[in-house]
Amino acid sequence: MSDVSLMVNGRRVSGVAEDRTLLVHFLRDNLGLTGTHVGCDTSQCGACVVHVDGKAVKSCTMLAVQASGSSVVTIEGLANGADLHPVQAAFKEHHGLQCGFCTPGMIMTATDMISRHPEGLDEATVRAELEGNICRCTGYHNIVKAILAASKTMAKASKGKAKQAA
Ligand code: FES
Ligand code: FES
Repeated sequence: MSDVSLMVNGRRVSGVAEDRTLLVHFLRDNLGLTGTHVGCDTSQCGACVVHVDGKAVKSCTMLAVQASGSSVVTIEGLANGADLHPVQAAFKEHHGLQCGFCTPGMIMTATDMISRHPEGLDEATVRAELEGNICRCTGYHNIVKAILAASKTMAKASKGKAKQAA
């Protein structure tokens, strides 16, 4: 057993976990953050994606002890109180979900993707970058639409902020 101490959604948390405990299980079972899903046992589906130190990571590919000392954001930490994150809002507006099982992972992947492409995204890039996320309802068309819309909204907002600061 090892001590695990990390920031999760801006809060310091700690616990004890077996050395073999995966980050996804630590988040779900120790912290009750069940928005991060487990959709496979082969690291293929992406339902478990969270951000670790600002980068999208499949939390079934990392041990909880490896994440100790890191800052983790899960789907539960994305909204600002009652205000949805722009990616969440875009998924809602563009019907980017059906059963919703893949949605937390899709959204965490999308927010990372958008932040790495502040100049904007095109459809081919979004589809290529979603390679590691599987939607079993095959709702890719609207998922891609939602990500493109969110990318535009966020680029506009950051241009607005830059203008205000100038
Ligand atoms: S549960 Fe992590 S990739 Fe499927
Ligand atoms: S919305 Fe059902 S798996 Fe994607």
